Amino acid sequence: MSGGNLRWTSAASAGLRGEVRVPGDKSISHRSIMLAAIAEGTSRITGFLEGEDTRATARAFAQMGVRIEAPRDNERIVHGVGLHGLKDPATTIDCGNAGTGMRLLTGLLAGQEFGTTLVGDASLSKRPMRRVIDPLSKMGARIDSQAGGLPPLHVRGGALHGISYELPVASAQVKSALLLAGLYAQGETHVIEPHPTRDYTERMLSAFGWPIEFGEGWAKLNGKHALRAVDIDVPADFSSAAFFIVAASVIPNSELMIKDVGMNPRRIGLLHVLRAMGADVREANAREVGGERVSDLIVRSALLKGIDVPVVHVPDMIDEFPILFVAAALAKGTTRVTGAAELRVKESDRIAVMAAGLRALGASIEETSDGAIIHGGKLSGGIVDSAGDHRCAMSFAVAGAVASSPVTIPDCANVATSFPGFSELANDAGLRLSA
Ligand code: S3P
Repeated sequence: MSGGNLRWTSAASAGLRGEVRVPGDKSISHRSIMLAAIAEGTSRITGFLEGEDTRATARAFAQMGVRIEAPRDNERIVHGVGLHGLKDPATTIDCGNAGTGMRLLTGLLAGQEFGTTLVGDASLSKRPMRRVIDPLSKMGARIDSQAGGLPPLHVRGGALHGISYELPVASAQVKSALLLAGLYAQGETHVIEPHPTRDYTERMLSAFGWPIEFGEGWAKLNGKHALRAVDIDVPADFSSAAFFIVAASVIPNSELMIKDVGMNPRRIGLLHVLRAMGADVREANAREVGGERVSDLIVRSALLKGIDVPVVHVPDMIDEFPILFVAAALAKGTTRVTGAAELRVKESDRIAVMAAGLRALGASIEETSDGAIIHGGKLSGGIVDSAGDHRCAMSFAVAGAVASSPVTIPDCANVATSFPGFSELANDAGLRLSA
């Protein structure tokens, strides 16, 4: 879907108060549908993200003959068809805006005996797929793309063999695509990462009973076992919580509790960086849910100061840079982001979009090829272009809450890809967003 038909105006907030529970984790929701679909038996998923991205993934498996019931919102019952039970979908599969959906599906489809065409929306159609095509081709898959390795992709399943592959860029999507193909491959698939990334595929494969070994920055498995259905309880998405963490930090008079937040160590880089900037974020009620660390976060307003963002945190906060840019634009002093060139190939070029938008609100930012130098200060109102990117749109909504006059953000409909109900939840907590 295009982000074009919704426009928000965000006005000054008097502070965020009370409790919020943000929707389920997008990465875990995608993977839960995929693994449950090819498992033996029936899996129940609770806390499922009702976002357009994850619904597109569920639709893809329904097209391939998997019965998926939705007894209520945020719940799916998936009747697994086993490793070899998927059927030729006959029509193209539309992944919408979802890079995770398309890249992981490409890996999984590489192991099927039928050919499938994967398409995406205008943003996804510009995102690089060679990073999965090249290693999957080495495993024996045949994948056609458009010029430059862009979607649509046509994936023809074949007899796959395992490979040992060192990823050129840290990417959980690429790692996961190879592991999913590896389920169907003869022999061992071994993936080595330049920096460790989120390990949900590894942990979930293990929970579904597949023998897999993994550690910091590597994973290996052998093909030709079976997955056994399990129930999955999806925690709240740290990346969605991030907008509220920053909002409650930068809006004076805030004290906000964010419930049930997934705290996988590979996801909370932003928390380390914000704390180093002076943020007041406390964890309460830390516990384990379905093998994942979960906490309630209590965030109070704080004066932030600029820092050099340690490169080691970049993969662990890769989706949080748009909102970090807003925090940095309001901090005292200069924040430097380096080693984050991947931001240029996300749902938009997030360095360019955030720099242009914050500049339109009076901030002083220099773009670099792999990051930015952001001089903190105050923000004024204006119109910003989120380029139809969900995370940029929500970040600008937070900026409007502290700007000296309202901020207008056209092109916001894509927020529903990852965070349905954002504006309602934000307004309940004390933001002043109007459509
Ligand atoms: C994701 C991995 C990251 C992240 C994306 C979700 C995943 O992408 O940006 O939102 O679920 O594996 P990359 O693998 O491209 O870094």
